[in-house]
Amino acid sequence: MKKIIIINGPNLNLLGKREPEIYGSQSFEGYFKSLQQDFSALELDYFQSNIEGELIDKLHDVGFSYDGIVLNAAAYTHTSVGIGDAVKGISTPVIEVHISNTYSREEFRHQSFISPNAKGVVLGFGLKSYALALQSFL
Ligand code: DQA
Repeated sequence: MKKIIIINGPNLNLLGKREPEIYGSQSFEGYFKSLQQDFSALELDYFQSNIEGELIDKLHDVGFSYDGIVLNAAAYTHTSVGIGDAVKGISTPVIEVHISNTYSREEFRHQSFISPNAKGVVLGFGLKSYALALQSFL
């Protein structure tokens, strides 16, 4: 069975409470349970951190053994050379995801340090962006 991890960056622990008009009203923990049911053909793990270095450490931990990484680096997408370099340095393919359509928002969200080294990018479909990314591993 393919082993896939979803890694969420800063403030995504507040999903459901945070700006629901942009990010929806469902918590990620609840959504993750439904993903585990819908993608029972995949072994799914989940990690969230608000700390840049912890996200880099996790990418290093899983990046040579897992079959895939679904990464929503949240605000660090637009700022972190370190996370971009980590994605470049590992061998596991990374799918970049965003809940919102970052290109329809502020200009600073149009820049991504992840995209140049991602296998693919899914954005703008709400939480469904994660399901679409997982679909690509089936
Ligand atoms: C986000 C988009 C980012 O610009 C923002 O900083 C986030 C969430 C998204 O999933 O839409 O925190 O990555």
